[in-house]
Amino acid sequence: MDYTTLGRTGLRVSVAGLGCGGFSRLGLGTGGDETGAIAIVRGAIELGVNLFDTAAAYGTESVLGKAIKTVPRDQIVICTKAPFRWSTGRADPAGIVASLDESLRQLDLDCIDVYQLHGVAPEHYDHALNELAPVLLREREKGKFRFLGISETAPNDLDHDTLHQAAQDKVWDVCMVGFSMMHQNARTRVFPQTRTHGLGTLLMFAVRNIFSQPGRLAATLKELAEDGQVAADLADDPLGFLIHPGGASSVIDAAYRYVRHEPGVDVVLFGTGKPDHLKTNIDSLLKPPLPEADHRRLGELFGHLVGVGLDAPHLTRAGQVR
Ligand SMILES: NC(=O)c1ccc[n+]([C@@H]2O[C@H](COP(=O)([O-])OP(=O)(O)OC[C@H]3O[C@@H](n4cnc5c(N)ncnc54)[C@H](OP(=O)(O)O)[C@@H]3O)[C@@H](O)[C@H]2O)c1
Repeated sequence: MDYTTLGRTGLRVSVAGLGCGGFSRLGLGTGGDETGAIAIVRGAIELGVNLFDTAAAYGTESVLGKAIKTVPRDQIVICTKAPFRWSTGRADPAGIVASLDESLRQLDLDCIDVYQLHGVAPEHYDHALNELAPVLLREREKGKFRFLGISETAPNDLDHDTLHQAAQDKVWDVCMVGFSMMHQNARTRVFPQTRTHGLGTLLMFAVRNIFSQPGRLAATLKELAEDGQVAADLADDPLGFLIHPGGASSVIDAAYRYVRHEPGVDVVLFGTGKPDHLKTNIDSLLKPPLPEADHRRLGELFGHLVGVGLDAPHLTRAGQVR
């Protein structure tokens, strides 16, 4: 495993972080059981992963807590998030304390390393900053968590307005941002700010359905070509040019390597319920960057797209392109 520093938190973290949410939820979202989920977490630890991201909404705090029970506390970094309703501006700010306490109980921990607001839309950012953060910072004084974080709602915030602003405010030490081969604009909208202000970054959406579901990539590119957003000849084998000796071994390998080496990215989160995916994803994240010519071509072909490939499984739309 390779390790890096999570921005100004100073935490030493693995460059590969296990996401306990997403579509898999450690396999619990795809028919797996608690024993399998615990095995995924323990398998990740054996491979050197020391950062885990969960949330009240995922239903995996308790299983994560059980899986890390025997690991010395200072060797692991646990990130979790408040329930979504506190990111909508509608819930009583004081009530977030009970949610924080419940996360501590579910995880069976005395202290969370990074406590985050979950998916804060731009229109609710001021509420998060002015109403929620002060309540949470008082709890931090009591030792309930170490660092405050904020995640964006990528499909509803295509230009990263929340994080663009959050990076400049002093209260957030960590942020979670969406970035991928098909949604590259965090390169200009987020990473310059997080690097300047020292926020740690957790990366999400490197691989969503667009790369993991067979046929989804070709269908998306076909729609984009029909819409004049990409060249028509890309639709048949859109990313085939990335796979060659000296290049990527698969589209998913390319997707993880693409985000991993982006300046400003600290930890790449990936979610899985499958032991073989756990291993291959970590292998990809530890490989060198894609060849420079391939990286450049990805920018030329897709750098103008915004919001492509962020969709959830039940949606059929290709994504939103501007
Ligand atoms: N706003 C937020 O705060 C927010 C939003 C989204 C995500 N997140 C965080 O980010 C983490 C990562 O989420 P994500 O949205 O980036 O997506 P993800 O959950 O990592 O999605 C990856 C999908 O691809 C599959 N997959 C993984 N490795 C694969 C491989 N090698 N080959 C084929 N399929 C593979 C997974 O299913 P298998 O089980 O089949 O591997 C999963 O369905 C989440 O767990 C969560 O912690 C946060």
